[in-house]
Amino acid sequence: MLKNKLIKELEQYFADDQKRIQHALKVTDYAEKLIKAFKEKYPDKNINEQVIIYTAVLHDIGIKNSEVKYGSSSGHYQEIEGPPVARKIMKSHNIDFETMDEVAEIIAHHHTPGKVSSNNFKLLYDADWLVNLPEVYNLNKKNTTEKENLIEKIFLTSTGKKIARKEFLNNY
Ligand SMILES: [Fe+2]
Repeated sequence: MLKNKLIKELEQYFADDQKRIQHALKVTDYAEKLIKAFKEKYPDKNINEQVIIYTAVLHDIGIKNSEVKYGSSSGHYQEIEGPPVARKIMKSHNIDFETMDEVAEIIAHHHTPGKVSSNNFKLLYDADWLVNLPEVYNLNKKNTTEKENLIEKIFLTSTGKKIARKEFLNNY
């Protein structure tokens, strides 16, 4: 399966940087959960599972070059540095151009919602936030209302909000 091959590439690329590898794997797990829930809720809406999964595995691949070139892992640099690395990896596995272009485009905007409005983008964005929310917003120091407000504000899909409530508020 191509997903597993891309995970192997990710592990090789980040070598001993377990933090990055684990992050991408967690985002990929959430992406799979989101895809399943989204398809159940919206069977008629078109999403491309491969695009979402490949993007989940490769979305932060630009971090390494951002740190080397600019000494920064900020989202802006990652968005610039990620697509060429991701394309090179995808090309070596003969992933078709259309898929490759869409994955690269999502990576190029994954910290900047609004520019790409596809459901593929939104689900990837929500998967990333399901992993990042507790740390970025110190969730264990927030009360229920604050958590609810954050979830409302941050997640782009109702599927993402629902899973976030389940994970962080223990309810539906
Ligand atoms: Fe991420």
